[in-house]
Amino acid sequence: MGITRLFSTPQLPPVGAGDLAVVTGATSGIGEATARLLVEEGFRVVGTTRRPEGVDKRIEGVTYVGLDLGDPASIEACAAEILALGTPAVLVNNAGESQSGPFEELPRDALERLFQVNVIGHVDLTQRLLPAMRAAGRGRVVMVGSMLGSFPLGFRSSYVASKAAIKGFASAARREVAPFGIGFTTLEPGSIATGLSARRTTYVDESGPYAAEFGRMLRRLNRNESRGISAERVAREVLRPIRAARPRPHYAVGSMAPVAFALSRVVPQQVMLNVISAKHDL
Ligand SMILES: NC(=O)c1ccc[n+]([C@@H]2O[C@H](COP(=O)([O-])OP(=O)(O)OC[C@H]3O[C@@H](n4cnc5c(N)ncnc54)[C@H](OP(=O)(O)O)[C@@H]3O)[C@@H](O)[C@H]2O)c1
Repeated sequence: MGITRLFSTPQLPPVGAGDLAVVTGATSGIGEATARLLVEEGFRVVGTTRRPEGVDKRIEGVTYVGLDLGDPASIEACAAEILALGTPAVLVNNAGESQSGPFEELPRDALERLFQVNVIGHVDLTQRLLPAMRAAGRGRVVMVGSMLGSFPLGFRSSYVASKAAIKGFASAARREVAPFGIGFTTLEPGSIATGLSARRTTYVDESGPYAAEFGRMLRRLNRNESRGISAERVAREVLRPIRAARPRPHYAVGSMAPVAFALSRVVPQQVMLNVISAKHDL
């Protein structure tokens, strides 16, 4: 293989004002901020929510469509509704569940739901929209992962694994869809102040062997989130692979992402694991 090819990033046709953009989980936090920014950029925006009739803070210019990623029938109906509105040029797979608990105590039904919502649901929705995007010959798919997908943290194993899984899908499928003008990118946010802590699902035996350390980690995790950067800052990062002619496979923002990723290239993995633990009182 030639050196030029080795260092090349696929160049893609542009997407922009007037095009259709889909943002899953557009009623709160990162998804809401991204939907608002895409409207400002001139996109026609479809935002998903589990309760389209009950959206409190409706954004002018966003069409709300029902989607429960835990329900395959809802995903099928959502994709049909989106395609009836047009062919998406942008798909931001943002919706997600934040789950915590000691590995030993995670219930099987909670694991299955998390992987359906955070991984299989996004894969399913993307598969249903890709044929139209491929026929159009252009598009951008952005998976919202988490820096924990790259830097694992104790008591977050299921969430870490779901975010690493979605990154794996995106990084591998990237090569498959590039010849059709479609970019696949993973964006990994660090700690973002969206109020997500209040919506976290937790599974722990309060009188079990892990309860004390789990509680300590969770308190620090929630404090880090409340002191995190804004959802608007993350939304601006989501826009980077959408605007770029040559979107990168991976972007990250918050929690000193540039330092963390640079450090991880030069120190042993155990050092990184220790740093992440220490940042969470473990
Ligand atoms: N906040 C952080 O510190 C942080 C850090 C790293 C990564 N992330 C990731 O960034 C993404 C957004 O996080 P956020 O903090 O903005 O969360 P958020 O404020 O809780 O918003 C989550 C969105 O997802 C939707 N949603 C939740 N469960 C769903 C389901 N089963 N099916 C379909 N939609 C569902 C919600 O919409 P409805 O309730 O209207 O259905 C809501 O709009 C998530 O993937 C999260 O894992 C967040």
